[in-house]
Amino acid sequence: MSPNPQGNRPKFTPHTPRGTTFRKPPLELFGTTLWEYPSQHYTPVPRAGKPAPLTGTPAPLGNNPSPQREGIQGDPHYAGATPSWVIWQLLQRYTEPGDRILDPMCGSGTTLDVCTDLDRSGKGFDINSTRPDIERADARKLPLPDACCDFVFVDPPYSTHINYSDAPACIGTLDAGGRDHGRAYYQSMARVIAEIARVLRPGRHMGLYVSDSRRDKQGSPEFIPIGFELFALLRQHFEPVDIVAVVRHNARLNRQSRHEQSAETDSLQRGFNYLFIMRKPKTPSI
Ligand SMILES: C[S@@+](CC[C@H](N)C(=O)[O-])C[C@H]1O[C@@H](n2cnc3c(N)ncnc32)[C@H](O)[C@@H]1O
Repeated sequence: MSPNPQGNRPKFTPHTPRGTTFRKPPLELFGTTLWEYPSQHYTPVPRAGKPAPLTGTPAPLGNNPSPQREGIQGDPHYAGATPSWVIWQLLQRYTEPGDRILDPMCGSGTTLDVCTDLDRSGKGFDINSTRPDIERADARKLPLPDACCDFVFVDPPYSTHINYSDAPACIGTLDAGGRDHGRAYYQSMARVIAEIARVLRPGRHMGLYVSDSRRDKQGSPEFIPIGFELFALLRQHFEPVDIVAVVRHNARLNRQSRHEQSAETDSLQRGFNYLFIMRKPKTPSI
């Protein structure tokens, strides 16, 4: 989009008109590669003999622990939390009840709460544990034996855009477009991906959720294609199954100021995340 030569402000239409009554639709399996749901969380369906689980376990550590709430997966106040319905879609499609699910960068525990809801056995690690059921570990060196997981979900830091914690080993301190051209970031992510390949059972799936990045560099926007770079790393270990575009429902994207900034700087706001769905080959041939 070019800056408007007449200086007129571009017309801006918010996604959801003001005054609209919001009602969460029931969550169902999506059938296309464009995923969208109008909430960060979904409402678990109560099943016979099983009340809707209480999730979002309070924790002694974390960047903003919240009390338990029904129908909330993970912590809504955790900066960078994954939309829980994305994980729900993956687990419904690629796993069975009782399967062992790993999230090596578990953050506020969204994956664990979806596992509880769907009767999967969840295991979570993070360099900065926010709840007692998340073990502190570096995703580049997981304390797990080979081929012990039936599915892995990971939502890593996308460069340095969020300050997750003071942990020196936090990959969120490594700049994907910095002076080293992101070398340290991509080397770290290559080790995380290799660990995921090691602990996943052959023939089973993994999902990596990530966004590209754009930032201002000496007055001009710099695009950092993190998604494509990580996809190339994934291809060293996995067969591609699909690439999903997940629509971002970030309230800030709807702000007039963001829209104007986008027009003025001739750059687009990030409107979607990639979800890379991969499979570990049955025989180590790629
Ligand atoms: C995007 S957040 C994950 C959000 C999570 N899926 C949720 O819904 O809350 C990325 C996480 O990676 C963690 N992390 C960063 N470096 C790590 C490392 N070396 N090993 C394990 N976790 C790490 C951060 O602490 C942060 O919680």
